[in-house]
Amino acid sequence: PTITYTDATGSARVVEANVGDSVMETAVRNGVPGIVAECGGSLSCATCHVFVDEADFAALPPMEEMEDEMLWGAAVERQDTSRLCCQIKVTDGMDLHVTTPETQV
Ligand code: FES
Repeated sequence: PTITYTDATGSARVVEANVGDSVMETAVRNGVPGIVAECGGSLSCATCHVFVDEADFAALPPMEEMEDEMLWGAAVERQDTSRLCCQIKVTDGMDLHVTTPETQV
């Protein structure tokens, strides 16, 4: 699986991901800038906010209510395709494109 992380300036990084990791863990492990992940994935910080490419968004499992609530507290205003990427699991063959917001804090 591959994850493409594009930052707010349009610069993209393609990262080889491991099945079962989260999209947040994949970013942190590869030093991808733009994802802070203060709480380490326990769904209490909203600093792993990403905008998922529209074409990919619908294919993801829907978010839980808690993630939805936390997204209202993100530093940059949420959009229709916003997710907290610690809640997105990497699956076999995944080819996911996300954009990181200008700031997470
Ligand atoms: Fe804190 Fe995702 S890492 S909510």
